[in-house]
Amino acid sequence: MDSLTPHMTTIQVFLRFRPLSIQEKANNEQNVWKVSHSSICLSTESLGLFSENKRPQMPLRVYNFTECFNSGVTNAMVHEKVSKPLLSAVLEGYNSTIFAYGQTGSGKTYTMLGLDSIELSKHRRKRSMSPFIGTNSHRPQYSTKGILFSSLKDLFSMVSSGDKVYSIVCSYMEIYNENVFDLLSDQNPENLTVNEDPNKGFYVKGLSEKVARNIEEVVEIVNAGENWKKYGNNEHNSNSSRSHTIFRAIVTGIKEDNTGFESFLHFVDLAGSERISNSKKAMNPETVNEGKHINTSLFYLCSVIHKLSEKPLQHTHIPYRNSNLTKLLKHSIGGNSFTSIICTASPSFSSYEMTSSTLHLASLARTITNRVSINTKSPSPTELLKIYHGDIRNLRAQIIVQKIQNSKVVRELEEKVEKASIPQCECKIADSNIEWIYGVGDVLGGKNANKGMILRSKEKKKTKCLNCQDHIQRYTKILEEHKELEEKYQKAIEYLKELKEKNEKLTERHKKVQEENDQGQKSLTDMQKKIEISINSNEENSIKYNNLLLAYNNLQNTSLEYEKLLDKYQMLQFEHSKCEEYFSLLEDKLAILEGRCFKKLSDKDIRVLEKFYLEVLDLAKEERIHKQQSRKVLGEIFSPNTFPVNIWEKLSDVYKDETLNMA
Ligand SMILES: Nc1ncnc2c1ncn2[C@@H]1O[C@H](COP(=O)(O)OP(=O)(O)OP(=O)(O)O)[C@@H](O)[C@H]1O
Ligand SMILES: [Mg+2]
Repeated sequence: MDSLTPHMTTIQVFLRFRPLSIQEKANNEQNVWKVSHSSICLSTESLGLFSENKRPQMPLRVYNFTECFNSGVTNAMVHEKVSKPLLSAVLEGYNSTIFAYGQTGSGKTYTMLGLDSIELSKHRRKRSMSPFIGTNSHRPQYSTKGILFSSLKDLFSMVSSGDKVYSIVCSYMEIYNENVFDLLSDQNPENLTVNEDPNKGFYVKGLSEKVARNIEEVVEIVNAGENWKKYGNNEHNSNSSRSHTIFRAIVTGIKEDNTGFESFLHFVDLAGSERISNSKKAMNPETVNEGKHINTSLFYLCSVIHKLSEKPLQHTHIPYRNSNLTKLLKHSIGGNSFTSIICTASPSFSSYEMTSSTLHLASLARTITNRVSINTKSPSPTELLKIYHGDIRNLRAQIIVQKIQNSKVVRELEEKVEKASIPQCECKIADSNIEWIYGVGDVLGGKNANKGMILRSKEKKKTKCLNCQDHIQRYTKILEEHKELEEKYQKAIEYLKELKEKNEKLTERHKKVQEENDQGQKSLTDMQKKIEISINSNEENSIKYNNLLLAYNNLQNTSLEYEKLLDKYQMLQFEHSKCEEYFSLLEDKLAILEGRCFKKLSDKDIRVLEKFYLEVLDLAKEERIHKQQSRKVLGEIFSPNTFPVNIWEKLSDVYKDETLNMA
C-alpha cells in the first residue's frame, strides 16, 4: 500500500506483570497467572485459592494479547517489543502513542520512567531527612531506564544516522483533578484550557515546548517536569502518581526535496485505578478526592474504549468530550495514530479483581482500529535555516574532533617514520659496507680467509635490511590509513560545503522572501497612507460639497427672489416706458402748442396749454416717482443684503450682463 494513503491499523495491546512486591511476599502471596507468549489465564493450581478464601470459583478464561511479559522481563525488553517498532513510523511522519494502563502500584510509571523500588526508597530516605518536607527538593531523578528514554535515545541515534534533517520538540503535561497543568512551566503551573480546532483536534492552549538535541536534554526536560508532578502514597504504592501525564515529542522531518512532515510521539502514564472504599480510612480527604477524579476519568476512558469496540461503528457516538483525558487521547484511540497500550498488573491473588478488570478492558482495546496517515508539513525557509544551522554546527564539531584525531595520527606517524628511518639509514650504510667489503675482497683477490667473514657480515646486514623492510611496510600501511582518514575528512568537508551551499541558497531565498515581504509591507503602508489621505480629502471634499450645495440652494432661493424682483422691475420699466411714450406725446403736443403760441394764442389755446402744462407737470412727477421706484428696485437687486457677494459672483453671466444692462 502507498504509505501516503491513510490506512487502518488495530491498537496493539501488551500485558506486563510486575514481580510480587515486598508487601505481597510478606503476605505469602503467590503468582496466580499462567503466562504464555501472547495469552494468559489463571493457573490451575491457583483455583483452589478461591474456595479457600470463600471467593466464587473463576472460569479458566484465556485472555489474548499482542504479547505478554512475565515479571522477569526488563524495561529494555519491553522497549524492544513495544516502543522501538513505532520509531521508524514516527520518522516517516506517522503519529504514535504508547500508554500505560493498570491498577495503582502495578508498574506504569516504572515502565515509562524506570525507577525501581530501591532507587525510590533511597530518594524517600533523602526526602525524610530534608528540612524541606513537602517541597519538591528531593524528587526522584530519572536516568534513562524507562521506555520513554530508550525510545528518545534510539530516535536521536536514528536521526543522526539518517539522511533527513529532524528537530525534536518536547512538551510535558499532567491532568490533575480534571485540570491540565504545564509541567515544563518555569513558575508554579497554571490551569490550562483544552480547546478544539477543526484541523488539529483537541489541544492544550499555551503549553510550553522545549527543543531537545540529545537524550541528556530529554532527561533534563523530564526531570524538570517531575518537579511539578503530583505524587502521593496509598496502600499499594508509596510513590503513586496522582495525575495522568502526557509526554509529547514533536518530530519534524525534512527530506532532500525539501518536503517535510510533523509527527507526534506520545507517552501517556495514567494514574492507576484504586479502590477508595478499602483505603478510605487511611487516606486524607485530598487523597480521596484525587482518587475520585482518577477513577471518574478512567471510567470515561473505559466508556470510550467500550463504544469504539462496538461493531458496526458507523453511527455510534463516541463520548470523547466527557473528560480532558479522553479529549486529549482522541487521536490515539480511534484516531490518527499507531497506538500501543501496555497493561500493567500485579500477579498476586489479592489483586485478582483489579487485574481481571484490566484484562477485560485490554481485550476490548485490541478490537479498536485507528486510521493512520502521514502528516505532511512543508517547513518554512526560517525553519529550514534553523535546522541547517544546527546541522552545520554539528558538522563543525565533527570536523574539529576529526582534526584533533588526524593531528594525533599524524604525530604518531611522524614518530614512527622517525623510528623507521634509522634502520633505513643503517640499511643504506650496510649496503655501502657490503659494497666496500666486496671491493676489498676483489682487491684481496678472493682470499678465502676474508671471504667467510664477508659473507657473515653480509647475512647480518641482510637481516637488518629485512627488519627495515618490515618497518617500511608498516609505515606504508599507516600512510594508507592516514590517506583513508584524509579521504573521509575530505568527504566531510565536501558535505559541509554542500550544506553551506544549501544554507546559502536558503539564506538567499529567505532574504528574497524577506525583501518581498518588506516590499509588500511598504506598498501596504503606502496604500494605507493613500487611503488615509483619500479619506481625509474625501472629508474635505464632502465639506466643500456640502458648502457648495448650501451655496447652490441659497443661490437658487436668491435667484427666485431675483426673478421676482426682475419681473417687478420689468413691469415698472414697462409702465415707465409707457409714461415716457405718453410724456413724449405730451411734449409733442406742447411743442405744437408752443408753436402755435408763437403765432397767436387764443384763450382756448391758452387754457388747453395750461391744462397740458399741468398734465406734463403731473407726468413729470409721475415719471420721477417711477424712476425713483425703478432705482429702488435696482438698489434692492444690487444690495449686498439681497445678494451676498459670493453668490452674486456665481450668478450666470447672462443674468449679470442683463442686470448690468438694466442698471
Ligand atoms: N517490572 C517491575 N520490576 C521491578 N519493580 C517494579 C516493576 N513494576 C513496578 N515496580 C515497582 O513497583 C512500585 C510501583 O510501581 P509504579 O509506581 O510504577 O506503579 P504505578 O502503576 O505507576 O502506580 P500509580 O498508579 O499509583 O502511579 C515501584 O516501587 C516500582 O519500582
Ligand atoms: Mg505511577
